[in-house]
Amino acid sequence: MPGIVLIGAQWGDEGKGKATDLIGTKVDYVARFNGGNNAGHTVVVGNESYALHLLPSGIISPTATPVIGNGVVVDPEVLFEEIDGLQSRGIDCSRLLVSESAQVIAPYHRTIDKVSERFAGKKKIGTTGRGIGPAYADKINRVGIRVSDLFHEEVLRDKVENSLRQKNQMLVKLYNRRAVDVDRTVDELLALGERLRPYAANTSLVLNKALDEGKTVLFEGGQATMLDIDHGTYPFVTSSNPTSGGACTGTGVGPTKINRVIGVSKAYVTRVGEGPFPTELFDEWGTWLREQGHEYGVTTGRPRRCGWFDAVVNRYAVQVNGLTDIVLTKLDVLTGLEQIPLCVAYDVDGERYDDMPVDQTAFDIAKPIYETMPGWTEDISQIHDFDDLPANCKAYVRRLEELSGCRISVIGTGPQRDHIIQIHSLVD
Ligand code: GDP
Ligand code: IMO
Ligand code: MG
Repeated sequence: MPGIVLIGAQWGDEGKGKATDLIGTKVDYVARFNGGNNAGHTVVVGNESYALHLLPSGIISPTATPVIGNGVVVDPEVLFEEIDGLQSRGIDCSRLLVSESAQVIAPYHRTIDKVSERFAGKKKIGTTGRGIGPAYADKINRVGIRVSDLFHEEVLRDKVENSLRQKNQMLVKLYNRRAVDVDRTVDELLALGERLRPYAANTSLVLNKALDEGKTVLFEGGQATMLDIDHGTYPFVTSSNPTSGGACTGTGVGPTKINRVIGVSKAYVTRVGEGPFPTELFDEWGTWLREQGHEYGVTTGRPRRCGWFDAVVNRYAVQVNGLTDIVLTKLDVLTGLEQIPLCVAYDVDGERYDDMPVDQTAFDIAKPIYETMPGWTEDISQIHDFDDLPANCKAYVRRLEELSGCRISVIGTGPQRDHIIQIHSLVD
């Protein structure tokens, strides 16, 4: 089972970091394939909690080689802050490999992200402000800077000059900001490049060789299905492909090497930033879920919008990612509810939708059609066998499985490594 993809099945923050950590010791490589430091993945080990943004969660497993693939946008300043932070806590980051063809987030990408959001006013996306969208826009516009460009001063200067020619006009004339200095930017990027050089590698070659030798590679997604630039709630999405296909383009590994696709879903749903969210709760139950689940962003600290489990979203995630397994997290958070509503379909202007309306105008007005399941009150955080769960809890899980159309292989019952119920192995 050498190629395993792990992605978010909802709007992010499903617990991908914990799920990756769960199998981190059983795999040889953990590769990030999309996004950048907009991600915030939490791994809790004993009393230590690690918030990872750019580094793959596999960095915590001493036996796995962490890889940043070509599909990632790398802010080298943030990368070194993260490496320094982890090294000071005794986590060895020397094994890290960064793709030579990954795109670089330059300081001006962060500036443009922030000023364009401010300029958009009510039409803003609610981005993380990390420069992700502007860096990917440059990639697609073919004016981006790749990691390998940082090692060639003349090439870098030429590219920065070319990229800033238009941006400086925009910054000054449209956004009323100071122009970005080319020389200063080049000097900063060269210095960061010097530090980045030992980590730079042809990661596509490394991963393909590893897979050919029968080693196991875990492809860890940032963000999630509903934030996908193609398959998510466009335009309220991120600027990459967090769906499983992104694992191939984002690392240079072919789809024939992928044997398994794991989707991580919360037992309810959260969303950060703007955009439609049919099961969102605006009443005291939304607050209840936020407080019980500690739903505050790892990257920006923003309170997460909360709502009941949405089976339409999950079915859609099973479809567009080709999921083989679901990791259902935060089931413990629902403990204590008398009744648990779960969304089985949408009502769009009087018409029932069992499948995701791809027309965003329809999705925007979709009203959830709920089914209600009885809750449970027993603490489930110490349970390790599915059969030992309270009967109503088991029934809730089985119903989610049935509605999603994919088996639930692991259940999260708390933030710790051992807060887990393993029904099927994720690596065999
Ligand atoms: P990610 O972005 O998908 O990696 O998820 P985040 O780390 O942003 O958010 C998930 C949060 O839920 C983190 O604080 C985790 O420690 C926590 N968490 C993960 N799984 C569980 C679980 O099964 N139960 C509880 N109570 N917390 C969990
Ligand atoms: P993880 O990996 C939740 C959201 C932002 C915003 C939109 C676009 O921790 O699940 P961007 O900065 O990417 O241009 O913002 O995407 N977003 C996330 N929401 N979890 C994340 O990552 C996210 N990364 C981006 O809030 O709505
Ligand atoms: Mg997160």
